[in-house]
Amino acid sequence: SGHLGHTIDMNTFLDDPEFAEIIMRAEQAIECGVLPERISQGSSGSYFVKDSKGKTIGVFKPKSEEPYGHLNPKWTKYFHKICCPCCFGRGCLVPNQGYLSEAGAYLVDDKLGLGVVPKTKVVWLVSETFNYSAIDRAKSRGKKYALEKVPKVAKKFNRIGLPPKVGSFQLFVEGYKEADYWLRKFETDPLPENTRKEFQSQFERLVILDYVIRNTDRGNDNWLVRYEKQDDGLNLSDKDTQWTVTEESTIKIAAIDNGLAFPFKHPDEWRAYPFHWAWLSQAQVPFSQETRDLVLPRISDMNFVQDLCEDLYELFKTDKGFDKATFENQMSVMRGQILNLTQALKDGKSPIQLVKMPRVIVERSSTGSQGRIVHLSNTFTQTFHSRKPFFSSW
Ligand SMILES: Nc1ncnc2c1ncn2[C@@H]1O[C@H](COP(=O)(O)OP(=O)(O)O)[C@@H](O)[C@H]1O
Ligand SMILES: [Mg+2]
Repeated sequence: SGHLGHTIDMNTFLDDPEFAEIIMRAEQAIECGVLPERISQGSSGSYFVKDSKGKTIGVFKPKSEEPYGHLNPKWTKYFHKICCPCCFGRGCLVPNQGYLSEAGAYLVDDKLGLGVVPKTKVVWLVSETFNYSAIDRAKSRGKKYALEKVPKVAKKFNRIGLPPKVGSFQLFVEGYKEADYWLRKFETDPLPENTRKEFQSQFERLVILDYVIRNTDRGNDNWLVRYEKQDDGLNLSDKDTQWTVTEESTIKIAAIDNGLAFPFKHPDEWRAYPFHWAWLSQAQVPFSQETRDLVLPRISDMNFVQDLCEDLYELFKTDKGFDKATFENQMSVMRGQILNLTQALKDGKSPIQLVKMPRVIVERSSTGSQGRIVHLSNTFTQTFHSRKPFFSSW
């Protein structure tokens, strides 16, 4: 098709043909009328994207429909922004770059080899079901009219006529439920030892991800768990065998909804943005040797950290609101988190001990190479006898 999807030229993933293929399927589905469907429960405009058979293949979050984007469908959020940004926003986060945070979280996950974030990249899509302004819709009607009257002239417009939206596209993972659900189940019905170990290992990876990106929104509804109970392993069907062979375990964590991370300064009031997993019993267990062996060699290498920052730079700089100084501050926070994490893993600490460490930032000195370590006030980032936060989410 000559003008398939009209976003096809905007989405190039030369290094990842598998992902390119999935996006092409999404574009084809839209072209033949299987349109992305708004996820109603979300706080912002998020959409389930389908293939032409109607199967959900991804979650798309357009930049312009983020809580601070100009086309967020929830009007109240818009008025909050106008009236009192300091009360309703997250003063430590770059506004309207949630989609970059989503893609950045995947980048960090991938670099660290954690494997808990479903693949997430920046993608352009256009669909009538997205939220468009009256002006965009009127323009689109004009283009459609032109297309009917003067097809040759109108060819340069895409068939829908609406402008494509940039956003994060995360692969949809199947068979998962919100962590809350399984955590409750595991309390009354404890996991078999080997599965418990595997869950612990996955949990540690979630902790590491959140700590490095300083996620401000990890409630137990923003991570998913897939668990398939294995009976006794005696009468495994072919499918089960394959599962055992390929997955090597029956439990897996997916860290979704990573749009509120990468703050440009440490939150002033940690109580507002705690890591909710820190209250789980799993957080009291020291990091396993397996996790330490996986992560320490990477994060204790200055070159690795520098590389990570450069990759994030390539990603973040694509935003039209990109600001170099703000980005440097985001990286200073992240390097501080990495410094603490390195120490905690070396010392055999637990996730709880990790989040109790004093906050630091590591600034890049103007001369280059060596970073300047700034220890912030000796207040801890999170303590444990405190009440639950008041503004845990909005
Ligand atoms: N990658 C994914 N795979 C499967 N389900 C997902 C995925 N991302 C989101 N969901 C489902 O959609 C719901 C809303 O997604 P979320 O990312 O939390 O959006 P919001 O930013 O609107 O809270 C989640 O609670 C989850 O049930
Ligand atoms: Mg959510």
